[in-house]
Amino acid sequence: MIYRIDLDSHVDLDGWRVAARRLAEADIPPSEILWRTGEQDGDLFVEATQNNELPEPSPGHRPLSVPRRFLELAELAVCHRDPERFTLLYRLLLRFQSEPRLIDIATDDDVFRLEGMAKAVRRDRHKMTAFVRFKKVEAADGPAYVAWFEPEHHIVALTVPFFVDRFANMRWSIITPHLSARWDGLALTFEPGGSKADVPDDEAGDDLWRTYYANIFNPARLKIGAMKREMPVKYWKNLPESSLITPLIRSAQGKENAMVENPQVAPPKRAEIIAQQRVAKAEPRPDHEAGTLEALRDEARSCQRCPLYRDATQTVFGEGLASADLVFVGEQPGDREDLAGKPFIGPAGALFDRALAEAGIDRRRAYVTNAVKHFKFEPRGKRRIHKKPGIAEIDACRWWIEQELGALKPKLTVALGATAVRSLTGKSASILSLRGQVIDSPLIGPVLVTVHPSFLLRLPDEDQQRVEYDRFVADLRLARDAAAG
Ligand code: URA
Repeated sequence: MIYRIDLDSHVDLDGWRVAARRLAEADIPPSEILWRTGEQDGDLFVEATQNNELPEPSPGHRPLSVPRRFLELAELAVCHRDPERFTLLYRLLLRFQSEPRLIDIATDDDVFRLEGMAKAVRRDRHKMTAFVRFKKVEAADGPAYVAWFEPEHHIVALTVPFFVDRFANMRWSIITPHLSARWDGLALTFEPGGSKADVPDDEAGDDLWRTYYANIFNPARLKIGAMKREMPVKYWKNLPESSLITPLIRSAQGKENAMVENPQVAPPKRAEIIAQQRVAKAEPRPDHEAGTLEALRDEARSCQRCPLYRDATQTVFGEGLASADLVFVGEQPGDREDLAGKPFIGPAGALFDRALAEAGIDRRRAYVTNAVKHFKFEPRGKRRIHKKPGIAEIDACRWWIEQELGALKPKLTVALGATAVRSLTGKSASILSLRGQVIDSPLIGPVLVTVHPSFLLRLPDEDQQRVEYDRFVADLRLARDAAAG
């Protein structure tokens, strides 16, 4: 007798788990089970069909157990396109009952295959987070963003929470051949797949990607093999910047030679554009501005503009050179900053310092501050867990940032993340749509937008961290060149 198990979707691990438990307790061998997800017939959504009556447990059957690592790997492996994946999981489930340490035997065929599937899915997820390119669509009720992506595996449902987290304030859809995800700012919904033709053109957005790519392309660090591994050729057809890859590679050797021969290369074009937008520093700033900043710092110690002062240890005011050309604005002090009274000295600060050094920026010659000057947190046992500041707190604290920037008059202000953007522009905007751009703020001059260093710390995947870190350093270089121009 063959048991036919109709799962609810391609990735229905819960359905597999319920059926597998019953079948394993009745000692049904893998060869007598047909796991169906619809792929076999080419269906996209499986019609709900009654599973065969599941068998009763064999008398005296012991409770099943599996290693925790198996469950972690299974969650990824069910997203693999291999039609045998559910059979493999079931075979392993049976084997764990007599071989409890099997999962540690990396050379075992089944374990090796499971690990391989999980790895392929992890890689595919990373590619999705790195290569989704949204196109802007002007709808009657405001802008929305649409992207086309072709994953290799069934990773959409597992991966879109990344985009919800990152682009919570935008309305977007990601269309893929088998499943599409839509976020309306409040709820995530899934719909059947679509086609590339469902995604409109956005020449302006594509140009921005191309400019950005041309800017971060470093001919001296070109390794074609590594680049193709990171950005495999099969993704190129959907990446606006891919049209630049071949010409940039072709010209790389010449550019590298020029860089070696002439280290004083002109700042990149984009930096020139930013430099043109910057506020002209007509005269050297008088010494008394250092005094103005000190007076502001003193005054801010007793700030009660919003209720955050009640629980925080102290006001964390900005620090740095009063005549700095570059000012960096973060979100709010964290736990370490709150205790020490200094901005960016904790884990995000360490990463920020590393990126600044790599971008050739001396932090001692810049000025670093935060949009919100008191630590907002939620006590959890002995720990204080960071809480994002709300709009009211950001807006209340804007008074201080305006005073600071008024005294500093930098050439360029860099907004690190969405809170800083809100504070500096008064607008809630997505970092995706603004990253690498300069917003001209009438009150405080040009503001270059980039991500917050803690965003990089939160990325789960090492590859992804590396890519995003490099992009962050590229943004900092852009800021350096623009302020030096
Ligand atoms: N994150 C910030 O935004 N600012 C700090 O000072 C520390 C962490």
